[in-house]
Amino acid sequence: MTVPNQTLPDRLIHTEEDVTPFVQTMLARTPDPRLREVLLSAATHLHAFIREIRPTEPEFELAIRWLRDVGQACTDSHNEMVLAADTMGASTLIDLINNDGMQGETMSALLGPFYRGDAPQCGYGDTIARSDTPGADLVIEGRVLDVNGDPIAGATLDVWQASPAGLYENQDPDQADFNLRGKFTTDDDGRYCIRTVKPAGYPIPTFGPVGQLVLLQDRPVMRPAHVHFIVTAPAHKTLITQIFADSMQAMIEDVVFGAKEQIAGDFQECSTPHPVVTGLRTPYFTCHYDFLLKPGEPTFPEPPIKGKAGAPS
Ligand code: BEZ
Ligand code: FE
Repeated sequence: MTVPNQTLPDRLIHTEEDVTPFVQTMLARTPDPRLREVLLSAATHLHAFIREIRPTEPEFELAIRWLRDVGQACTDSHNEMVLAADTMGASTLIDLINNDGMQGETMSALLGPFYRGDAPQCGYGDTIARSDTPGADLVIEGRVLDVNGDPIAGATLDVWQASPAGLYENQDPDQADFNLRGKFTTDDDGRYCIRTVKPAGYPIPTFGPVGQLVLLQDRPVMRPAHVHFIVTAPAHKTLITQIFADSMQAMIEDVVFGAKEQIAGDFQECSTPHPVVTGLRTPYFTCHYDFLLKPGEPTFPEPPIKGKAGAPS
């Protein structure tokens, strides 16, 4: 983008055509180059969008009220802003700009609004079902490898999922704190093993302004069944992803555009005893999945929420 003339405008705004160059000239004074680039581009595209749709004044008031409501719907246990970014496809676009999967690493997927951080540490084969949870038993196991296929020992998998009843524990007073959340560490061979329940698809929250807007679009408000993972290891780029357990139709209709074929899991029904995990109700499911990390600096996303509704934060 060309940086407009940095001197002050020589006259005030008279007409619609004057607004964008006037604003650009003022924003171009921003000293930080990246912030200047972002602000100039945001104002230029925003003005072009406004010129295209030519909002009426009541429409502008409605838009401002919607934005205010998005902010006011955010609490320590609910992040309506993330929901807004996700349902407009912005999160998936930014995800793919930053994670193209071109070095053989596992494809990523959006973080979503329900990552809590500080989940309890679990041992090999431990369950993350911490209170009575419906659904078939599931064992997810595999290895964390580098893009050459070598095992990564001591990698961390931070795992979370919704209950098959359709709610994350932070949304549901009937689930124990940190139900269906846990951290696992790979062994010397890069192996991990997680006991959980088979996920089900669930609707995004529709009580707030974002869900209400999606309902007006006449498309499903559902996410396909999935389990979230953040996989980290020293000297490797952090992988934020999801493993999907649903039909192609459900993945195509994902309300937040997060489903990708490369991260669809292979879920097998089993009735014979599992070699590691005991006490499984049969039939149970297994999903074998190897995560591939590329070299890089590990980073840790800021959790969009802090805890359960009503709990002290
Ligand atoms: C999720 O998968 O947790 C999620 C992602 C985006 C919006 C709502 C939920
Ligand atoms: Fe989810």
